[in-house]
Amino acid sequence: MYNEKVMEAFKNPKNVGEIENYDGLGKVGNASCGDIMQITLKIENDVIVDAKFKTFGCAAAIATSSTATQMVIGMTIDEALKLTNKKVVEELEGLPPQKIHCSVLAEEAIKAAIEDYQNRKNGIVKDEPIKSV
Ligand code: FES
Repeated sequence: MYNEKVMEAFKNPKNVGEIENYDGLGKVGNASCGDIMQITLKIENDVIVDAKFKTFGCAAAIATSSTATQMVIGMTIDEALKLTNKKVVEELEGLPPQKIHCSVLAEEAIKAAIEDYQNRKNGIVKDEPIKSV
């Protein structure tokens, strides 16, 4: 059901984990399936210098998380805010139609992490990382 590029990103995901001393944290859930994703970003002078993810979700969610983190490293926050799930799916050369909704998690987690970064600059901390249970 998945193409080779998606399977490779799923089997050998990049940027798995959590950045120590992150500057932005985004945690989002997919209402349709209950899966969740966390992205942490390291940001210097409004440029994303590192990105890591933890995803409790399906193969498409893991593949898109991995790809999205690779895509945003080196981007300014303004560029990263324009990264859409469509662009991540294009980078992966497509997902099955019933799996497109999974790619929305990565876009939303990056946006949430950038929003958190901007809030933290203003002294507002709203969220904590996902804890293992
Ligand atoms: Fe939940 Fe893919 S089925 S993110």
